[in-house]
Amino acid sequence: MGGVARERYERMRESVRALYDRNRQRGHAAWCGYDYDFVCPSMGTYPFQWFWDSCFHTVALSHVDPERARSEVRSLLKNQQPDGFVAHVTFWQREAFEEMLKTYSIAYRTPYLSDCIQPPVLAEAVQAAARGAGGRAFLDEVLPKVRRYFDWLDRVRDPDRDGLIATLQPDESGLDHTPKYDAYLGIAGTDLEDFTAAWERVAGPYATVGRDPEKMFALDRFICEDVLVNTIYGENQRVLGELLESVGDAAGASAMRTRAAHTTEGLVSKCYDAEAGLFFDLAGRREERLRVNTVSSLLPLALPDLPSKVAERIVGHLTDEREYAAPFPVPSVAMNEPSYAPGIVGTKLVWRGPSWMNTNWYLARGLRRHGRAEIARHVEDRSGALVERDGFREYYNPTTGEGNGARDFSWTGVVVDLLGASATE
Ligand code: GLC
Repeated sequence: MGGVARERYERMRESVRALYDRNRQRGHAAWCGYDYDFVCPSMGTYPFQWFWDSCFHTVALSHVDPERARSEVRSLLKNQQPDGFVAHVTFWQREAFEEMLKTYSIAYRTPYLSDCIQPPVLAEAVQAAARGAGGRAFLDEVLPKVRRYFDWLDRVRDPDRDGLIATLQPDESGLDHTPKYDAYLGIAGTDLEDFTAAWERVAGPYATVGRDPEKMFALDRFICEDVLVNTIYGENQRVLGELLESVGDAAGASAMRTRAAHTTEGLVSKCYDAEAGLFFDLAGRREERLRVNTVSSLLPLALPDLPSKVAERIVGHLTDEREYAAPFPVPSVAMNEPSYAPGIVGTKLVWRGPSWMNTNWYLARGLRRHGRAEIARHVEDRSGALVERDGFREYYNPTTGEGNGARDFSWTGVVVDLLGASATE
């Protein structure tokens, strides 16, 4: 490890450790009879366990407390449903926050579990948590559950069998108010009420069909083969394949690798616009491209099997000062999109411009995977600088670096993994 990079990494580890002590939620839930121990996204606004947040927390915890990394995954999987589904929010301590819940737009499977998915970062989380002593026993414990979850996604969310799973409401992508859905949802401005109304236009009819997935697809209200979700899906099937291989399940590993390749093929053949050099989501049963240039459009760079010509086009956008090469990259919307907004938008609208740590994590690793380590180092360095100057915020202004949204936001702690990459070179 280089001295300066290592010291910087060590300092960040200590900050993340302290953050994760502050945001730790531990207790016993009478409604299911289980104990829980997880890191919540933020004590002020998000006290419950969120799916993809928890996976990022696991990656960060693997640097500071491997045992807690495993508890995080165990808590996430505790309430997996018999069909394999895992909720995007587990409301472990719901009773303590009834007032706050009134402000959320969420569909429920049970009073304690949401009925949505989030990007399936699960295999990457398990891989991070399995490092070190006792890793094999941990894999033996959790892999059957992880496998059942990915089988559920494949069976229930990919009815047209193109290797791409569909989200059925906007918040399932984790990118709640991203402008890429504006036209599809019929939204013109930035009023939170318009987003809530759009959400209800989708969730209302779903409720009338009992939230049966086949019937929700048939309604064709919001079906999105989302590029960010499917990049993460593909990557996690690939990683799950590696994990299955490592425990001697050659058949399972090969099935997962085949599925992962199918997902990359689906993304390249259906979502990639060769003229623009960008990926776009597919909306509705007619699979119409949502042609808005957002960070999703770049995310397939994270896939090691992305053809190198395509990867080069993405790198071109990332390094273009008109689009993504901001002083504090990587903006969640290209800076030359009309909808780009670098700071807080209206009341609590997210994903309309600021830089976020979790997408930086995917892009920096993608840059390294495609032989662009020097640009990756730049993204890692700037990511570290954001936290060093303004703390662990939910998102940051790409031009000024100013932090916004929730304070002490936990997944921003994944910055420790970004700094670890250059510290270990
Ligand atoms: C917001 C984000 C979502 C995240 C949640 C909890 O809804 O858009 O991605 O999971 O907050 O942090």
